[in-house]
Amino acid sequence: MEISVSPSILAADFTNLGREIARMEQAGADMLHIDVMDGVFVPNISFGLPVVKSIRKATGLFFDVHLMICDPLAYVERFAAAGADGITFHLESRSCPEKVVEAIRASGKKAGISIRPSTPISKVLPLLPQIDMLLVMTVEPGFGGQGFMKEMLEKIRAVREYALESGIPLDIQVDGGINGETARLAVEAGANVLVAGSYLFRSEDAGEAIASLKGQQT
Ligand code: DX5
Ligand code: ZN
Repeated sequence: MEISVSPSILAADFTNLGREIARMEQAGADMLHIDVMDGVFVPNISFGLPVVKSIRKATGLFFDVHLMICDPLAYVERFAAAGADGITFHLESRSCPEKVVEAIRASGKKAGISIRPSTPISKVLPLLPQIDMLLVMTVEPGFGGQGFMKEMLEKIRAVREYALESGIPLDIQVDGGINGETARLAVEAGANVLVAGSYLFRSEDAGEAIASLKGQQT
């Protein structure tokens, strides 16, 4: 399976955001992961619509927007208009998931659902035929730089098996604590889209770091 890497700009140097994005693009990033937090769904506030709109002018990379907000339904259209290409929202948010997926589709974007570490996959399986990507969080959402939760590998394995058996073409994304080592475990379990923040932005050679996530030697 083709592996895609999505650098999370939460770990970027915000004083040089444009340059940081260009650095990842040149290093071979497949997309850009944009973490939107509202301070209520998660205990942190990151950035929102004006930032997405502004960086849209800086790159043609696919914008993989991860909404960690209470009411994603109210914001889908605005994030789509600001430049998102894919919108992922949390199953645990208070919006009706079917309605959010419908709104994402209506705006012509790719639809993703994310589950927190404590959410069992049984809650999301019925929705898989309607979405493009499932994001299995491998840390508690809200902050970068946390350790990868190995217990999540079982969830990834079970979802990949279910999707294959049911003939559902599904991207499985992992987010949180991804580095060269944990990427290998996640890919072995069935993930094919890897989000990485600290590991990529703190690396001196981002090209080499991206290649290591894809299991390639440089
Ligand atoms: C956490 C965010 C992640 C975060 C990952 O809530 O969803 O995307 O930026 O950061 P690292 O890769 O540093 O764990
Ligand atoms: Zn994220």
